[in-house]
Amino acid sequence: MDDPLNWSTDDQERALRVIAPWYDLDFGSLTDDVEMLRELTAPGQRVLELGAGSGRLAVPLAEHGCHVTAVDSSEAMLSLGERRMRNAAVRVVRGDMRCLELQERFDLVVIGLSTFQHLLRRRDQLAALRTARRHLAEGGHLLIDWTAPRVDDIEPSIQILQVEWMRQAESGAMVTKSASQELSQDRHCGDPIDRALPIAWITYQYDSVDETGQVRRSLARFPLRVNLGVGEMAGLLAQSDLQGVSWFGSWDLTPVGLGDRIIVIAEEAS
Ligand SMILES: C[S@@+](CC[C@H](N)C(=O)[O-])C[C@H]1O[C@@H](n2cnc3c(N)ncnc32)[C@H](O)[C@@H]1O
Repeated sequence: MDDPLNWSTDDQERALRVIAPWYDLDFGSLTDDVEMLRELTAPGQRVLELGAGSGRLAVPLAEHGCHVTAVDSSEAMLSLGERRMRNAAVRVVRGDMRCLELQERFDLVVIGLSTFQHLLRRRDQLAALRTARRHLAEGGHLLIDWTAPRVDDIEPSIQILQVEWMRQAESGAMVTKSASQELSQDRHCGDPIDRALPIAWITYQYDSVDETGQVRRSLARFPLRVNLGVGEMAGLLAQSDLQGVSWFGSWDLTPVGLGDRIIVIAEEAS
């Protein structure tokens, strides 16, 4: 099996080109994290979203009255939401959160919906956190939202594809999404810390059946950092001159440990 630490930006773009056509069908109806962000922001605030994708979070935040800058490295994802973002006056920047350099500062920097887990190496994680810190206005906050560790994350057996949902696309086609997660055990390169960080290969399979009965199958496979807990994130924040000030366990802001998410709100370390 291929080494996930060799995963390149081009590999990522190839996977996202498969995922993008189905992204709205998959995540478009997810609004709980949007509600959370609306509650945590006020009209007039400057918001920077890193890994904004199609603008699923950026657009409603702009409609809420925030001045939103949406950054993403993927052309496929940005072009999916280009028109929506333009109409909502979201400023779109194609860039990599590991080395982004904008001249403005922001009241809130957001790394939402498990985007942080796309950063596989310790140096990538730290580079993204330092980018976030560099872009914070005085008194500004960073919010990161990712999937809490699950027993399945460290289960090394090969997982079979399981149906996640069946939905009707706007075109009328019936689409079935199946997914599997398989812990990578073939990480031969990188420094010892990177080798010790669990990475799972995620496979998404989309089967679309149109009105004539024609079936189209597309497959995307990509690596994701899993089993990322509070302790590890607290350490990463400290190494980036940041400190977590609030930790939550779900988009309803329940206490950390009681939900399937981890959400940290951090600020510059004092
Ligand atoms: C799970 S999607 C989340 C999209 C959006 N935030 C949402 O909530 O729907 C993750 C996004 O992060 C982007 N991404 C991953 N690594 C990135 C990086 N190093 N710099 C900028 N964007 C990145 C991907 O292109 C993708 O659009």
